[in-house]
Amino acid sequence: MSEVKTVENMVSITIDGTEYQAKEGEFILNAARANDIFVPAICYLTRCSPTLACRICLVEADGKQVYSCNTKVKEGMEVTIDTPNILEERRAIMEVYDVNHPLQCGVCDQSGECELQNYTLELGVDSQSYMIPDTKRESANWSSVLHYDPGLCIVCERCTTVCKDMIGDAAITTTKRGGADLDKAYKETMPKDAYSMWNKLQKSVIAPSNGTGETNCSDCGECIAVCPVGALVSRDFVYSSNAWDLKRIPAVAAHTSDGAQVYYEVKPTSIEDRTEKIYRVTNEWSFVSLDGSARFAYDFQNTIASKDEAAFTAAIEAFKKADTVRFNAMVTNEEAMMLQTLKEKMGVKLYNPEVRAFQKFLNHYEAASGNSLWSTDTDAIMKNSDFVISIGSALRNDSPAMKYAYNNVQKMNKGSGLYFHPVGDTLIPTFGKNIETFNHKVGLEEAALYLVLGLFADKEKLPSDVKEYIESFIKSSTKTIKEKEVKTVKEMVLNEETGEEEEVSKKVTEMVEKEITVITNGLVDLLGGDASKFDATFEKMMKKKESFSMMLGEDLYYHDKAENIAKLVALIEATCDIDVVMTPPKSNALGVALICDLDDAQSGYTVGYNENGDFKLSALGTGDLDMPAMNQQEGTLCNIGKRVLPTNAAIEYNGYELNDLMKELIGAPELTIDWTETLPTQRGFKAVAFDSLTNSFDNDGTDNRGYRLETSNVETELPEVEKCDEGAVLEGEIAYRCNPARQFNDFTEKSHQIFETFSLYVSTEKAESLGEKVEIVFENGSITLDVVADEKMIGDIVKVPDFRAAEGVYDLFGGSRYQTVTLRKV
Ligand code: SF4
Ligand code: SF4
Ligand code: FES
Repeated sequence: MSEVKTVENMVSITIDGTEYQAKEGEFILNAARANDIFVPAICYLTRCSPTLACRICLVEADGKQVYSCNTKVKEGMEVTIDTPNILEERRAIMEVYDVNHPLQCGVCDQSGECELQNYTLELGVDSQSYMIPDTKRESANWSSVLHYDPGLCIVCERCTTVCKDMIGDAAITTTKRGGADLDKAYKETMPKDAYSMWNKLQKSVIAPSNGTGETNCSDCGECIAVCPVGALVSRDFVYSSNAWDLKRIPAVAAHTSDGAQVYYEVKPTSIEDRTEKIYRVTNEWSFVSLDGSARFAYDFQNTIASKDEAAFTAAIEAFKKADTVRFNAMVTNEEAMMLQTLKEKMGVKLYNPEVRAFQKFLNHYEAASGNSLWSTDTDAIMKNSDFVISIGSALRNDSPAMKYAYNNVQKMNKGSGLYFHPVGDTLIPTFGKNIETFNHKVGLEEAALYLVLGLFADKEKLPSDVKEYIESFIKSSTKTIKEKEVKTVKEMVLNEETGEEEEVSKKVTEMVEKEITVITNGLVDLLGGDASKFDATFEKMMKKKESFSMMLGEDLYYHDKAENIAKLVALIEATCDIDVVMTPPKSNALGVALICDLDDAQSGYTVGYNENGDFKLSALGTGDLDMPAMNQQEGTLCNIGKRVLPTNAAIEYNGYELNDLMKELIGAPELTIDWTETLPTQRGFKAVAFDSLTNSFDNDGTDNRGYRLETSNVETELPEVEKCDEGAVLEGEIAYRCNPARQFNDFTEKSHQIFETFSLYVSTEKAESLGEKVEIVFENGSITLDVVADEKMIGDIVKVPDFRAAEGVYDLFGGSRYQTVTLRKV
């Protein structure tokens, strides 16, 4: 089994007379960067399309002046970075950018890390040759987190590009500014690229694309991250700190399993209070894109002042009498290892409903496929895949990394996509022209996998019963259609010269009836698609497609037929040319699944770790003994990319840690990070000390953070799969366990810049019928929630969030992510 195919033929090029190797098809700019060579560039974003907004990346390639961000390398190409003409253009471009740019660097939030400042100095702009009357431009708040100052904006379009090509929201765009016209004389006198750039700059400004003045987007803040100047900033960060005062702590975004790289940026709270606090989160935005929880949910630390010895003693007693330790995915690998060791030494049950279903699914998958883990990751998909299938995941809510990859494939790789999910979503189809969505009934995920097998499998490799079953859905019928037919008819016409009638041939078009054979796939109908059109649509989607990938989500792990689904996934991998990635549900679900022997249920006296229990350890500061939050911990986390990533403590913690309890209970080592090299090698971990883990990217984007888990692949027979259980379909009023896009757990809710409430999320139509508040009645209990309309949702299914552990939503849903419920207006 291979990763998504990487075709990386190398070519030789010379840059300023020195020979370098570059990936075939790579832009000159990226090739230069990969070889550690600097070419000035402002508007280009790696992983997004070139916009040619800045034109400063001019170079000479084989004697011709080109933009290095959109010109591909060729074998033997000779590149010169600076020529006298290019230097003149670049200097003029920078002068233009500086025309009327407000002189407020002293108070600007970007000062010290501003690319306008940097390039102005780099290109030696010490005088100004151009001028134009300025236009008044008003600052605006676009959302709860976004602040835009058009006076500072250089219209580089990085923000609009990242939002469209990476995030997929396309929530902002360029719009008319109504600036003064350039003096005509400049056209003749100034360098031509600088003139064109200025002409556009003078006419444009950025605005929410829906025309309302508000973005209504996922509030990821990625536009803020990529803005080279102080035009787009977080409302919270405005005037709060100078960049150079902040200390950067490299860490891993804690709330999702994306494992995105982040820097917590810290400094003392005030002159009087020297306790450090996090002022903002930044990222290596060329290689990593964050979601709203990673960027804004950072202030969830436990600010306990000292060690509570009495509580510590009580905790030891609680553990001694515990039958169960209940915890969730918000733990490091080291903590998971402590709990596993506790189980081995003291015989407690480990109960973790967030992870258990995923762990079982992985076990089924390994037994069926011989592979210990899935075959690809989201980075590889973005680089190489041009056809992506998503099954079992509410892409907009579950995994930002999956959503970004799904979108990026459409935008950058001219991709196609199939999206299967019971909850309709208006955003997904906007990612690209070749996306077919199936809003199928709850329970039909097996049918989706059978459809994939039918469409992509090498039929020679399929077991005969599976082949027959798939073929049983293919129906052939005849249909009468009307078609244009060109006929030749003869008629007699009078020849005016001779006065005699002559026979002439003439072509006429007639509508004729015709019988044709129509092949339809019953699985398409079963999944809510239009079988009469699907064949033609699919043929179009498949044009020039070479690299296929499939994203699987949490719905599948909690499915009644999860074992059969895991086998179907294994069969797809064995018979189709499709690589697979699975979303670990929440934070460190993969690490916990690999390290801990989890139990199916809890019983007896329970110690809860950030979960309900008879005795509660809590990093939220709401339990019987305080624990450090993830931004106060050193340790490692596993992510969707199958990497073991080091994270560091950004904020001081003064209380006890889990390791302190373990020292008393089972004789643990001195420090939490002493556990890092004891992580189980038989599950793919390496015996590497925490302090030797690397934490960086190469200039070409190669991820060197931590290490990749070793995976094992054993030859196995094809799994025996069951037919799709059409009877398993849920009917009636259905609730889906699903969070709003920026909420994942109690810690996101605690953060002051995350505003989504613990409510029932429904489509606009459904909201009208439900009113303001409803009681959602399950078989084993009920919960009452305010109703919130999510404009991007379609259909009747309602979303119940699970991000507040104390609400016990996992217990209400039991072993499934969907449940039939009764909705009672309150
Ligand atoms: S807001 Fe920033 S990123 Fe967006 S166009 Fe203006 S300068 Fe560029
Ligand atoms: S916050 Fe994210 S989704 Fe919203 S406009 Fe910025 S990049 Fe787009
Ligand atoms: S970086 Fe190439 S045109 Fe801006």
